[in-house]
Amino acid sequence: MTNNIKKLGLLTSGGDSPGMNAAIRAVVRTAIYNDLQVFGIYRGYQGMIEGEITPMQTTDVANIMQRGGTILKTARSKDFMTDEGMKKAYEQVRQHSIDALVLIGGDGTFRGANKFFERYNIPAVGIPGTIDKDLLGTDTTIGFDTAANTAVEAIDKIRDTAEAHDRLFVVEVMGRDAGFIALHSGLASGAEDILIPEQKRDIEDVLCRIDKDERRKKHVHIIVVSEHDELGGGQKVFDSIKTRFPDLDTRLCILGHIQRGGSPSCADRVLAGRLGYGAVMALLQGKTQVMLGMINGAIAYTPFSNVIKSEPPISDDMLQMIRVLSS
Ligand code: F6P
Repeated sequence: MTNNIKKLGLLTSGGDSPGMNAAIRAVVRTAIYNDLQVFGIYRGYQGMIEGEITPMQTTDVANIMQRGGTILKTARSKDFMTDEGMKKAYEQVRQHSIDALVLIGGDGTFRGANKFFERYNIPAVGIPGTIDKDLLGTDTTIGFDTAANTAVEAIDKIRDTAEAHDRLFVVEVMGRDAGFIALHSGLASGAEDILIPEQKRDIEDVLCRIDKDERRKKHVHIIVVSEHDELGGGQKVFDSIKTRFPDLDTRLCILGHIQRGGSPSCADRVLAGRLGYGAVMALLQGKTQVMLGMINGAIAYTPFSNVIKSEPPISDDMLQMIRVLSS
C-alpha cells in the first residue's frame, strides 16, 4: 500500500438505488480490514456541509445488505453547488481529519465531485449507484438490475389484467433522460412498443401500429414509455391515443418510485460488493478522482470529468431489435 490514508469519509447522494446498502457494507468492512477509520456522512453533500458525520464500525453495517434505500440517507444538495457550500463542506472534512472520500451516487454526485475536487484536492473515488444506468465508464450501475426487474414484474401483472379486459396500457417507467429501464423492461415483458428518449419517434407511427393491431383483432397492447421520451412521457402518449381512438379501452399506469425501492437483486448485491471493495483498494493504491465501473466483467476507472460528459449510447442494433421484437 502506497499512501497515508487513515480516515475515510463515505456518503450516498442523489436518488437512492437498491444495492447502496450493500456497497456501504463493502466499503466499511474493506476499510476497517485495512486498518482505516470510517466516517459515515449522512444525507450526502448536504450532510457534509452541515457536519452530520459519525464514525462507523463493522457492526453498523450488519444485516443491511438485503435492504433497499440507504442507511446513510441521501439528498440532492443545492447548497453544495455554491462556492460557500463547497467551502463549508471542505471545512467539515478537514475538521474530522478525513483523508479521502468514497462517493456513491449518480451523475449529479459526480458533477458535484468534479467541481469540488478541482478546488480542494482531497483523494476521492466514486461508485455508480443509480437506477438509471446513465453513466459513462460502466456497463451497469448499482440498482439498475433491481429496478428493471421491478418494472418487469409490474408489467407482467399489468398484462394479466390487460388480457382479461382486452385493454391497451401505457406504462411509464423512470430513467430520467436515459431509456435503459424502458428498453430492458419492455423487451423482457414483450411490450408491443417501447418509447425512449434516445430514439426519435413520430406519434403517427405509434398510432399506426395500434391501428394495425386493432385491425387484426389484437386488442391487448402494452406501450412502455420512458418518463422523458421524445413524445413527452406517459400522459402525453396516453392523451394522443385517447384522442385518436376514443373507443379503445385505454389506461395509463405510472410506475414511479416503486422502481427505486425493494430488496436488491443478486446481481446488484454482487456488483455493490465488488465496487465497494474495489473503491477502498483503489484509494489505497493511490487512485483518485475516478469512478469505478464494471466493463466486460472487470473493474474500470474513469475520471469524474469523463463520467459526466454524456450518456451512454443505445446501439442501433438494440433500437432495431425493439422494432422487430415488438412488431
Ligand atoms: O435518478 C433516479 C431517478 O429515480 C430518476 O429515474 C427520476 O427521474 C428521478 O430520480 C426522480 O427523482 P425524485 O425522487 O427526486 O423525484
